[in-house]
Amino acid sequence: MGELTGKRIVLGVTGGVAAYKAAELVRALVREQAAVEVVLTATGARFVSAATFQALSGNPVWLDLWDDRASGGMAHIELGRRADAIVVAPASADFLAKLACGLADDLLSTLCLARPAGRVLMVAPAMNREMWDNPATRRNAARLREDGVALLGPADGEQACGETGPGRMAEPGELIEALIATFQPRRLAGRRLLITAGPTFEPIDPVRGLTNLSSGRMGYALARAAAEAGAAVTLVSGPVSLATPGGVERVDVLTALQMREAVLSRLADIDLFIAVAAVCDFRAAEPSVAKVKKEGASLSLPLARNPDILAEVAARPDAPFCVGFAAETERLEEQAEAKRRAKGLPLLVGNLVQEGMGGENSRLVLFDDGGMHPIAPGSKREIARRLIGEIAARLPGGAHG
Ligand code: C5P
Repeated sequence: MGELTGKRIVLGVTGGVAAYKAAELVRALVREQAAVEVVLTATGARFVSAATFQALSGNPVWLDLWDDRASGGMAHIELGRRADAIVVAPASADFLAKLACGLADDLLSTLCLARPAGRVLMVAPAMNREMWDNPATRRNAARLREDGVALLGPADGEQACGETGPGRMAEPGELIEALIATFQPRRLAGRRLLITAGPTFEPIDPVRGLTNLSSGRMGYALARAAAEAGAAVTLVSGPVSLATPGGVERVDVLTALQMREAVLSRLADIDLFIAVAAVCDFRAAEPSVAKVKKEGASLSLPLARNPDILAEVAARPDAPFCVGFAAETERLEEQAEAKRRAKGLPLLVGNLVQEGMGGENSRLVLFDDGGMHPIAPGSKREIARRLIGEIAARLPGGAHG
């Protein structure tokens, strides 16, 4: 099932070279099973034709304020009213100006003005960097944010005009993620989350080290789900090859000691700490500065114990609500509950590792003072959302949204 199943999205395309990316955005929306209706402005149509959008969306494209397909020629009212969200990508400097002033002289600007209160309007500006930097455009963008319009981007980079700077349209993948997020319940609105994820890497010498097979996927999925739920999220991550979820602040570390330092220095004002990282229990006591050579019959490697970051945070008098993870290969119930008590946690997520670490499917069970609570299986993303719901419900002050 798509992430946007049952959602009706109006996609406005205004004039700009980035209009070609709107075609990709329509495909991505349809892939997530959204019903897409494209509204093309006159200048937008000079860049990409209506036929392209019609083929990709499977729906006729709206071009004209006076289109009489809608009952009584009221397309500007009807389209906005039946949409769950309006997305304008790319949004030109001219369109931002119109929107900021409340002008309504074509179908897209009129339907944006006529949208029902509270309807999501997401806008992805794209223009030459000088146009974006112009105080007039900046003023318009700030005004739109104040009016509750969600502005995404523009990104920095190479521009079609040959210049480099801010003005590139946000990528379709980023827009889709942000749109999906707007439909999630805001259970963590106003909360601040610190989360660890991934493995740690403990150097033995400049080219070797101790680590484990944690992929970081569960921690990243939780960080994403928490951001979708409205939390301000800081993700302290060991070495993984995963993209940072939208809206998440990421701090990269390598070793357990660096992870501990990154966590302890960011605890102020944190409401919730979730430790998902598979922290190496030991590190090389004295990593070699030069590469260790294989000559010699054997090698012994003295190890030192790493600090338990979660236990340390949970033991603080001003500890945030702490959630731990325990991956076990057997006797999950006994071991997870023992770990929860030893670390002094209100909540621990037990994971029976059947497919090895980093496997796609996880069977998760929650342990708290009330006992054991299995989490219904699903994709990593679904499970992450369920977990965030369970955690939000247990937070002091309860879930918001
Ligand atoms: O004791 P064990 O490593 O099984 O506990 C797992 C939980 O403790 C996880 O939540 C993990 O992120 C956290 N942990 C930690 N620092 C360590 C070891 C584990 O924060 N040094």
